[in-house]
This record gives sequence, C-alpha cells and structure tokens, in this order.
Amino acid sequence: MSGNFYKQKVLILDFGSQYTQLIARRVREAQVYCEIHPFNISIEKIKTFSPMGIILSGGPASIYEINAPNVDRQILDLKVPVLGICYGMQFLTHLLSGIVSKATDREYGNAAMTIEDNRDLFYGFGISDQETVWMSHGDRIDRMPEGFVALASSKNSPIAAMADASRKFFGVQFHPEVAHTPEGHRVLKNFLFRICGCEPSWTMASFVRRTIRKQRERIGEDRVICGLSGGVDSSVTAVLLHKAIGDRLSCIFVDNGLLRRGEVQDVMEVFQEYYGMDLHLVDASERFLSCLKGISDPEEKRKIIGREFIGVFEQKAKELGSAKYLAQGTLYPDVIESVSFKGPSATIKSHHNVGGLPETMKLKLIEPLRELFKDEVRQVGVELGLPREMVIRQPFPGPGLAVRILGEVTRDRLEILRSADVIVLEEIRKAGLYEKVWQSFAVLLPVRTVGVMGDERTYENVIAIRVVDSLDAMTADWTRIPYEVQARMSNRIINSVKGVNRVVYDISSKPPSTIEWE
Ligand code: XMP
Repeated sequence: MSGNFYKQKVLILDFGSQYTQLIARRVREAQVYCEIHPFNISIEKIKTFSPMGIILSGGPASIYEINAPNVDRQILDLKVPVLGICYGMQFLTHLLSGIVSKATDREYGNAAMTIEDNRDLFYGFGISDQETVWMSHGDRIDRMPEGFVALASSKNSPIAAMADASRKFFGVQFHPEVAHTPEGHRVLKNFLFRICGCEPSWTMASFVRRTIRKQRERIGEDRVICGLSGGVDSSVTAVLLHKAIGDRLSCIFVDNGLLRRGEVQDVMEVFQEYYGMDLHLVDASERFLSCLKGISDPEEKRKIIGREFIGVFEQKAKELGSAKYLAQGTLYPDVIESVSFKGPSATIKSHHNVGGLPETMKLKLIEPLRELFKDEVRQVGVELGLPREMVIRQPFPGPGLAVRILGEVTRDRLEILRSADVIVLEEIRKAGLYEKVWQSFAVLLPVRTVGVMGDERTYENVIAIRVVDSLDAMTADWTRIPYEVQARMSNRIINSVKGVNRVVYDISSKPPSTIEWE
C-alpha cells in the first residue's frame, strides 16, 4: 500500500460497484486522502494502512449468492468507523446477524427519503426532511442487527439508513456518491469529519510539497528520464520532477509526425523556454511515416507506432546515458484497474503508452501521480504554474492522428486532417465548449464523394466531426452541439481545406461505438 505517507486515510473496500471510484473522488473532494482496495485484502494489510474510517462500497452481488464477496469480519474489531453503502450495508447487516431479504422488485432510480434521525450521519439535515436519493438495489434490510436504529426511510426501503452510533457502524441503502443524490456529499462529509474525526488536509498544495520532498530523497544524485507528450499527465509529471531534481531530469519528446498542427512548437516553448528543462526533441516523423506506408489495418498501425516509439525512445535514452529511473504519468484509475478483483477488462484497442519501456531498459519506475485522479492532476498542474491550456487539454491518443485517418496514413492526408482539426477546435473554443466536452476532433474517412463547387463536379474526401461527453472515457455520448456551430465548422472546412467536399457529424455513443474511430 502506498498511502502511509499521509496521516489521515480512509479505506474503501471495493465490492465491484460501478460507483466505487466516485466514492473515492467524493472523499478526495472533501480533502481526505483515501484508497480503494479489493474487498478481500488481508486484515494485516488493513491494519498497516491504519485507516481513520472504512467505507464498504456497493456491488452487483446479493449476499445470498454462493461465493458472495466477503470481508474479513475482524474489520469490525478494529474500532474504526464503518460506512456500508448499498451492498456494503447489506453485507454489514448480514455480518452482524441482521436480516437481509430479497425485495420483490428491484428499486432503481430516484427515491424520496425521509430523515428520521439527524444526530450523526444526517447532522445538519432536518427531521422529517425529504431528500432525493439514488437507489439501485434488489435486496433490502428486513431486520437491523442488534444495537442499530433506523435513520431514514423511503417507500421501498423502510430502512434506507441505519446506525449503531456507539460502535460507529453506519449503513445507507442509497448512493451518496452519485450526482443524483444532490445532498450525498453532506452525508459523506458527516461520516468523514464528525464520525471518523478526519480533517480536510488533503490538498494539492500539500501533495506537491510532499511529493517534491519524497522524490528528492528517493532519487538522490541519480538521473531520471521522462517521455513528454504534451498531454496533461506527462507534463505534470515532468514539471513536478523538474522542481524536485532540476537538471538531473532529462525529457524526451518524440515527434512521430502524427501530432496536431503547432504541437511541437507549443511543447518546446513551454518546457524548454519557459521552464528551462533539459528537453530533447527527436524528429522521427520520417521513420514513423515510412513504417506506416501502405498500412490500413488499425491494430497493425497501433502496433507499428508502439514499436517504433519504443525504438526511438530507447535509442535517445541510451545517447543521454546513465539514468537510473524512468518517470511515467500513471494515474490512480490505472492502478485500481490493475489491482481490481474483476480482472482487467478485455483489450478492445491496444493502447500504446510508455508501459512497455522499463523491462527492456532496466530502469526503475517513478510514478509520482499514481495516487491521483485526473481532476487532481489538473489541480497539481495549476499549483505548478503550467499554462491553463495545457492543464485543461482534452485527451489525445498516443498513436495521434494515425487513428483518425482511416486507411493509409500519408503526408497529404495528415495535412488535410490537421487543417480540418484546427477549424473544429477553433469553433469549439469560440462556442465556449472546449472545457465542457470530453473530446472534440476531426476524422478523415477513406471514401470520396461527389460534390459541386461553382459549376464544377468534385470528387473529394469526407471529414467526420466527433464531439463527445464523458466522465472517464469508459462510456461516452455524442454532444448535442448547436446546429450553428456545426454549420460554421462545415462551411469553413469545405471552403478552406483543399480536398474536402463533405462534412458529417458522428452521432454514435460508446458503447457500442468507441470514441476514436480506430
Ligand atoms: P476509445 O476510442 O477506446 O478511447 O473509446 C477512449 C479514450 O482513450 C483515448 N485513446 C488512447 N489513448 N493511447 C492513448 O494514450 C491510445 O492508443 C489511445 N486510443 C484511444 C481516446 O482518445 C479516448 O479519450
């Protein structure tokens, strides 16, 4: 466990709910450090972690199933407050010999809940107040364990919340962590501050201070190499380490020829000129484009780009010599995914990240952001003085524009796509949408269509525009951007990008589509 560095910590035991990460984000937003671990973590590990409170997440199982997820019952002897949410509450009930029963109907959606006791968990709420809460459960509590009292009820859940205040055990049937429970954050804060006695001390300013100190100690006089892509995660990683060890950090920026217009100059300006970093630009565009010649298959493209990236990076790193560490911008969701008891989700696209590098290069990994969620990384970026445009940047895939040019990637096609992409982003920014949407970009299709320009028949390329809303890229919906914005994009692209005579708007959600077209 990594978190012993922070004094006040909350442990979230994951029973597999789709909302577990949201619980963690709400706790962090309340400025309390927390970590998610699988429900079956050993009691010794829990003790070493020494949490101020434990939250049991929801989950898809029913406690009556054979092999229903089970936590070591010794967690109840630790004298640490426990909050069970949904399945977590049912599990707690079962463990303490209460009765959980199968509800005749699954309760799913908003419910009106009446507060009956406002001493601890609902402190600050009024008795008899009606609160809107989000429910999603099949089983429900029929009889509370001994010592418990009901705190709230809804039509389908007579015991919507319960407490044994003397032992500091609490359960809620609803999901306080989701936005559909508008006052849920107050319930969580009551648990954290009033019941567990935490203080709001987890701030990004303190994270920056501690991380710089910790990395300085760990790295000593050694050297670190970091791959910089211009994305938020690698940029924040590099600046953080630069603050810690200055010139002993060398950054490598590989221009694979698949970047957007102006990207290389922007990155060089910020990191070399503004921060004065030891930054090495490798122009490998020729190499990448010649390897991609004649290749149309999406997976093959990704594999080639991944392989060449490793080749170029390794070669440059060797030239720079003598580094002991490789820094990477791994984030907390990647860490959770890799320890999750559900196992890694199926590979739909092979994502090329720097992940494969350390084994071949025999470098030790440094991942200063591995405890952070994306929004926290952005705040760290702000703390470190990174330009706002860099901090709020939309995600951009490692294989770059290659996965947005369907079919063969050529210099000419890259130029068409770059020109269209600039227009899409300009119009999205002008409409004030850049920070509201998850991603917005152009895609060049491998078909040509007939058009008419002046009196002439044309036979040219099609650009698709993709704009999506998403919270974490796992699911996404196409953004209903105003028709006027679509019209401006289309007019400008067709009028000014040579080789394009048609623009279409992508109206597919993920799933079943994906965000990128390849
Ligand atoms: P998909 O297309 O799978 O994309 O819905 C989900 C998110 O991941 C980004 N993406 C990538 N990021 N390397 C990356 O670093 C990749 O190979 C890659 N492919 C897709 C995509 O832009 C979206 O945000």
